[in-house]
Amino acid sequence: MSKLSQLLFLGYALASNAATGGVTSAEDNRIYQRVDALLARMSLEDKIGQLVQQAGTDASTGVLQDYSNQIEDVKAGRVGSILNIAGADKIRALQQLAVENSPHHIPLLFGYDVLRGYRTTFPVPLGEAASWDLAAIEGSARIAAVEASNEGIGWTFAPMVDIARDARWGRVMEGAGEDPYLGSLIAVARVNGFQGRNFTQSGAIAACAKHFAADGAAVAGRDYNTVDMSETELREIYLRPFKAAAEAGCLTFMNAFNEISGVPSTANGLLNRTILKGEWNWPGFIVSDWGSVGQLIAHGFAKDGEQAAELSVNAGCDMDMCSNAYRDHLGKLVKQGRVDPSLIEDACRRILYVKFKLGLFDDPYKFCKNDPAISLSAEHRAHARDMARKSFVLLQNEGQILPLSKKTPTIAVIGPLADNRFDPMVSWSALGDQKHTITLLQGLRNALGDTARIVYEKGCDITEGDRSGFSRALEAAREADVVIAAMGEPGDYTGENRNRTELRLPGLQEQLIDELAGTGKPVVVMLYCGRPLVLSSWQKKASAILCVWQPGTEGGNAIADVVFGDMNPSGKLPVSFPYATGQVPVYYNHKSTGKPYQLGVPWTTRYLDCPNDPLYPFGYGLSYSSFAYAGLALSSRTLDASSSLTVSVEVSNKGLRDGEEVVQLYVRDLVGSLTRPVKELKGFKKIMLKAGETAKVSFTLSSTDLAYWTRSLEYKAEPGEFKVFVGGSSAATLEQSFVLN
Ligand code: GLC
Repeated sequence: MSKLSQLLFLGYALASNAATGGVTSAEDNRIYQRVDALLARMSLEDKIGQLVQQAGTDASTGVLQDYSNQIEDVKAGRVGSILNIAGADKIRALQQLAVENSPHHIPLLFGYDVLRGYRTTFPVPLGEAASWDLAAIEGSARIAAVEASNEGIGWTFAPMVDIARDARWGRVMEGAGEDPYLGSLIAVARVNGFQGRNFTQSGAIAACAKHFAADGAAVAGRDYNTVDMSETELREIYLRPFKAAAEAGCLTFMNAFNEISGVPSTANGLLNRTILKGEWNWPGFIVSDWGSVGQLIAHGFAKDGEQAAELSVNAGCDMDMCSNAYRDHLGKLVKQGRVDPSLIEDACRRILYVKFKLGLFDDPYKFCKNDPAISLSAEHRAHARDMARKSFVLLQNEGQILPLSKKTPTIAVIGPLADNRFDPMVSWSALGDQKHTITLLQGLRNALGDTARIVYEKGCDITEGDRSGFSRALEAAREADVVIAAMGEPGDYTGENRNRTELRLPGLQEQLIDELAGTGKPVVVMLYCGRPLVLSSWQKKASAILCVWQPGTEGGNAIADVVFGDMNPSGKLPVSFPYATGQVPVYYNHKSTGKPYQLGVPWTTRYLDCPNDPLYPFGYGLSYSSFAYAGLALSSRTLDASSSLTVSVEVSNKGLRDGEEVVQLYVRDLVGSLTRPVKELKGFKKIMLKAGETAKVSFTLSSTDLAYWTRSLEYKAEPGEFKVFVGGSSAATLEQSFVLN
């Protein structure tokens, strides 16, 4: 565990997050006094200026508008924030123009997509989620914030907290997977990391919970596509991580591009005003996604830019990212009485609150220190390596082929991702430079020195159909004692709008694995991916499969640590790996249906050509140790609103190595006013067990853990029988039951 993780782990053990969004602290009261004094001096045009976000060109994340007048706009106070500008000097210069020239000297807020590090690149967020290590995940966000805030960035468009059950969707890699409970805890960890636990730590920047809401439920897994769901499903599954982020004090939210049941999120008053700003009493501001205000026209929800601006600001979207609709139409809409000036005032107040909270009025250049010693420091790289190791999921390990001995005489390293700095760094890596990336091949060489002979052959490309490299690859395999095959997706197969209809390995990789296995040598596959892939066609031909996601700057060293046993893998899947693409969406917390599948029983739900279950379920992951569960016990068979019960289980490490296990607690509500999932994750503990050691692990359950959005749209627990399952994945079978009175 890196030093930073250790410190944060201690913080986790000792402190609970200061919930905000309700009680206004003395500090906030002082901030609001300053905000209101400033507002009182501002004209309507000045206030509208704060609601406008423009873009720079150091990243391309949307359709660029004409910003040739940007300097004049900044000096005139016609823009409140700029995104996609990289470099402290450029940002300082623009900030100086705003502070010294604009009517009220209001600092600009500079935003960037810092999802997996700023210059030190961590595993993709989905990979980090596979660690189930909240302190380590917070540590990555902390480092990202420290590096970004050193170079002018005061606001990151992260964490992405969208629940994703459909692996065809390109953005699965940006979030924390399919489960609301795990996703909520990870959302809090990331908000705490970016915001320095409510700005109590240095290098804190504003976080942004996105995309609000439910874009992971796009029909057919196609980004931006229609979302249609009941309000109970929206609240029960998709809004939970957002609520957790809001309660953790996340200062900003970003609307999603998609509609929800006919109403685009950007103009969705239920989401933005009723729930977020109303029920949750959240004090921050909502930014649209890139151009999503103007896109109301394409949605067929607004007839023109004027109506798009009217509908969005009335529904609670505070800042217009790069559609210019607010800039062009809000003044007129207020004069026409179509937008109440109090809404402009409220939006501007929220934005100014965040700028004051960040300290920008006290020191507009606080984020421009540009200390060259900050980024890619040894400590930051050590955390990146530790985080990557913890993210890996051992999916298969036939005959305990892994870990390999460093004295293995000859190792063949084959595949298009073995010596590849580029693809593992493509998705949302901000200013992460591939020149710093440790490849798999380099990592193995670093670990082995000259103790073993490595023979490397690329074999094939990631997506192309050229077999010309096969013969040399197969020859290398024949010479070797073991083959390490680095296979997977190209980096640009995951991320925004990178959706797939087929989740198998692209190109000739499956054929290459097949022929490598045909040499009779054991094949160990390192799987590079940003989403669940379909492995079933070759899985049985591989001796071992280690899912390494897109592991970031230190990926190669981290893989070597695990391959040679310096680190015992402990990752667990935060998302189901389907048996076939046709199964998708497939997820563990599904409903029973009236005809749940039973082997051999006709007329129970099934496919003709595929099992119902995924190849690897949520929560699954192997270790070099093996863990046994026994003695599941409840402290009581009954529970009521005022009591709690303890669930305990004995976990034993039956292996020869010390190892970590994520002990998972699931609950099933057998009968509800709405049908209920067959399992729901309600707790987990990641524990270290020495070889041969047995430990008792306990969880506490109370009725609040059993609450859900009922048929009457109330959030409460309903009396009745519940089952409890505990194990090392969502396939846990050890069960007990109790009754909630
Ligand atoms: C993009 C993405 C969003 C990102 C924003 C700014 O369209 O949807 O996640 O934060 O634009 O780059």
